[in-house]
Amino acid sequence: MKIISILNHKGGVGKTTFTGSIAQALALTGRRVLAIDNDSQHNLSSLLNVGSVQPNILDVYRAPKESAPKRLLSAVVKTGLPNLHIITSCGDLVDGCVGDAYHLKNAIDECSLERFYDFVLIDNAPGLDQLQASAVNACHEIFVPTELCQFAVDGLVEMERTLAARCPLGGRVSKIIPNFYRNVRRHNTFLAALNTMFPERVTSTSILVDSVFDEVVTEGKILFLHRLYSKGAACYIRLVHELFMLDEEEVWDAVLGKRGEHMREEARERYYKMKEGSVGDD
Ligand SMILES: Nc1ncnc2c1ncn2[C@@H]1O[C@H](COP(=O)(O)OP(=O)(O)O)[C@@H](O)[C@H]1O
Ligand SMILES: [Mg+2]
Repeated sequence: MKIISILNHKGGVGKTTFTGSIAQALALTGRRVLAIDNDSQHNLSSLLNVGSVQPNILDVYRAPKESAPKRLLSAVVKTGLPNLHIITSCGDLVDGCVGDAYHLKNAIDECSLERFYDFVLIDNAPGLDQLQASAVNACHEIFVPTELCQFAVDGLVEMERTLAARCPLGGRVSKIIPNFYRNVRRHNTFLAALNTMFPERVTSTSILVDSVFDEVVTEGKILFLHRLYSKGAACYIRLVHELFMLDEEEVWDAVLGKRGEHMREEARERYYKMKEGSVGDD
């Protein structure tokens, strides 16, 4: 089992979109995935159409050390995709809830999550405080989605320094994923700078700017089932192949198969609703 934290001290760089999309893609290819929403804004919980439920990650942080593993397991809920589960978050989650920055790690270690999952993906709020430190201490690797602009690139060096000082035993930044990419000179310049500063760690796949990410969230849809032919979905299929060394054809076969099943189901549901007269003209 691999535990990955998705982290960037900046907000709005695509951490939650990345976590949700990667989690869905891995689950569609049959990997067993647990997503953990470690952000009080609980956007990941919304993206996966679960919302904030109780118990959630806050209850895990609040539980005494001995009962935290049990709490963690009881906080797991199913999503609309069979292999994808989530521990949701809530608005009351603040740094002060985390006493011991190893609490989450201990809880995960103690409940032998590897029996149930191949991947654990932890989505984080912006910043580098106790909540993020907990996730970093609990993980094996850190993935960093980033924008391509001067402040973002400068900030990553600083972020890595802070992480090494605050979480010496935690996971390290293994991949940096350029997001909001457009093939323009400015973006290509920053991309080249990133590659020079972090050799071997910047993914060769950049995620293109695509309004599809906002659309699927607004409509409560799943990127790979409802917008598979978008640029955004294609970027994520390449990313899954690159980050997890999954065969591209295997990913396509799995996703196309699940999409077909899903569309047949949707059509059938619509048919019966129409028969009962409960579907309008839209
Ligand atoms: N590649 C992209 N192209 C266009 N919009 C994107 C892309 N990635 C993310 N977004 C959008 O940008 C906004 C911020 O993304 P989000 O994942 O919430 O960032 P973070 O979790 O880092 O705060 C969301 O509205 C999301 O739909
Ligand atoms: Mg977020």
